[in-house]
Order: sequence, then C-alpha cells, then structure tokens
Amino acid sequence: YGDANQKIDYVFKIVLIGDSAVGKSQILSRFARNEFSLDSKATIGVEFQTRTVAIENKNIKAQIWDTAGQERYRAVTSAYYRGAVGAMLVYDITKRQSFDHIPRWLEELRSHADKNIVIILIGNKSDLEDQRAIPTEDAKEFAQKEGLFFLETSALEATNVESSFVTLLTQIF
Ligand code: GTP
Ligand code: MG
Repeated sequence: YGDANQKIDYVFKIVLIGDSAVGKSQILSRFARNEFSLDSKATIGVEFQTRTVAIENKNIKAQIWDTAGQERYRAVTSAYYRGAVGAMLVYDITKRQSFDHIPRWLEELRSHADKNIVIILIGNKSDLEDQRAIPTEDAKEFAQKEGLFFLETSALEATNVESSFVTLLTQIF
C-alpha cells in the first residue's frame, strides 16, 4: 500500500458517485488503506485518497475522489468531475431506491464529465445476500445496455474491491 520511492508513470483521477450510504467512502477506505468501518459518517464536501498499483509493469497512481451522496453536502459538480478519467457508480444491492437513481447519476456524469470517461457500475454490500433487493442479472443487463462495466462488491468482506479498481484502471490505461 505504500507509495514510497516509487516511480509514477501515470496519475489517474477517479470519481465515486451514488446515493448516500451505499458505501462509497468504505469502498475507498478498503482500497486505499485496507480499512473498513461499520459506523462510517456521511461525507461532507469532497475528500480524496490515493493508492499506487502496478498494471502491466507501469506504476499507476489512482487519485480517488469521494463526495457526499446527500444533496445538501455535495460540492460543486463541475470541479469534482474535472479531469476524471474513470468513475464508479455505486448502489446498494439491498436498497432498490439506490439502484433506481442510477440513471440520474449517469446523466449527471454524462453532462459534467469527459465523454471518454470509463464507468463501472458497482453493486455494493454483496455480503448482505439475505437482504438483496436487486438481482445481479437486472444490474448486469442495465450495465450492458448503457455500456458500463459491472461488478458486485463488499467493502466489508473486501470482495471485488481491488478488481473493480483494477478493471477501471486497466481500461483507462
Ligand atoms: P455518503 O458519504 O453519505 O454519500 O455515504 P457513502 O456512500 O460514503 O456510505 P459509507 O461508505 O459511509 O457507508 C454507509 C454505511 O454502509 C456504513 O455504515 C458502512 O459501514 C456500511 N457499508 C459500507 N460498505 C458496506 C458493505 O460492503 N457491507 C455492509 N454490510 N455494510 C457496508
Ligand atoms: Mg461517504
């Protein structure tokens, strides 16, 4: 996880978006520091963390931006999306509403971000299978129709978090 003494070949900005409480900040914390907290506070404004990963013998520094899902805590949108080459569009597999709002987030992304941005749809909290509200197939179909990558993750169990970022970074690169 340490970035010390590494030669950086590329820096890629990635943005996290989606409804409040879907787990954006915990996905980031799992990826950047391998940490998880069950009593995570709602994000206010914008935060970011970085982690450098090696892909095809290149050191890629991912600079990941995280903002509030709650409207009243959101920072200025255009600044948030500026320069972003990848986006993670996150919903909670146990919350129907968070999936139903995905088209809105996609619209915001498409109107503010670069048109070549690589997007991955993430169904988080896959550890809560007994509370699942969104079948995997429905999300997969939606992603296919919209030309998005798709994975289900669990920030809690550290399932697919690494793969999600690597999928994005590999595509960008
Ligand atoms: P905002 O900052 O308000 O936009 O929310 P957020 O999307 O950043 O959500 P956050 O990461 O703060 O997580 C919200 C809650 O869901 C916290 O209680 C987390 O512990 C919990 N959570 C996040 N990821 C998972 C997961 O993979 N599984 C389970 N069971 N809980 C999770
Ligand atoms: Mg947050």
